[in-house]
Amino acid sequence: MRIIVCENYQSLSKKAAQIIGSQMILKPNSVLGLATGSTPIGMYKNLIKMYEEGLIDFSKITTFNLDEYYNLPAENNQSYHYFMYDNLFNHININKENVHIPNGMAQDIDNECLHYDKMIDNSSGIDIQVLGIGNNAHIGFNEPTINFNKGTHVVTLDESTRKANARFFSSLEEVPTKAITMGTGSIFKSKKILLLASGKNKAEAIYNTVHGKVTPEVPSSILQFHQDVILILDKEAASLLSKDDYEVVQEVSKVK
Ligand code: F6R
Repeated sequence: MRIIVCENYQSLSKKAAQIIGSQMILKPNSVLGLATGSTPIGMYKNLIKMYEEGLIDFSKITTFNLDEYYNLPAENNQSYHYFMYDNLFNHININKENVHIPNGMAQDIDNECLHYDKMIDNSSGIDIQVLGIGNNAHIGFNEPTINFNKGTHVVTLDESTRKANARFFSSLEEVPTKAITMGTGSIFKSKKILLLASGKNKAEAIYNTVHGKVTPEVPSSILQFHQDVILILDKEAASLLSKDDYEVVQEVSKVK
């Protein structure tokens, strides 16, 4: 596990975009695994800027999103479909046929889960998966539980997750109780994983990800077994780690 600590959220976002951009330059038909939530918004802004500057091209890129709320229409401005178009897809030259987000409105949700995994398997596999992390160490919407889930599945969201996400809705009651998410197994199949975390409220989850016992009660702890994981943290999210755990990123303009 490689851990990079950035000065602040802005530099974390830039670093994450540079890593995704490098992947895209090295392999223009990359398959990207994408996340929603507050954390990757800055990374998406930087990717849009890089696209506008002609540095990266999305025309051959395929994407798979981690998750979607269950039973929330794509047009709802709190759906992850809406989020992704608003924060990224509407601003770049991606072929919309190459965009995949689990359909939480599917009539046959079990079939949708199987179909989603099949589509990932039928692609060349996810080259790089972006993850945020919940305060309770969830990845995707794989909440703390008694065993790791392999494939895409429907989950009941933890109360702590619903409370954390209530900031985007007008009330807690409006936050869906369920979601459809890639399983830990599907995430684990990705060739490379880029986990982003910002803020003090993520510090304990990050400490447990790096040093804790590997257990489904701390879903992100499984990443200790993956061969190519990069954590990009700001100082606050890294505040419970020791300096020996990580490398510090200097802003290019500040390097003498
Ligand atoms: C989002 C997702 C979640 C979030 C996590 C952190 O697609 O899968 O695991 O990454 O809940 O959310 P933020 O970034 O809002 O703190």
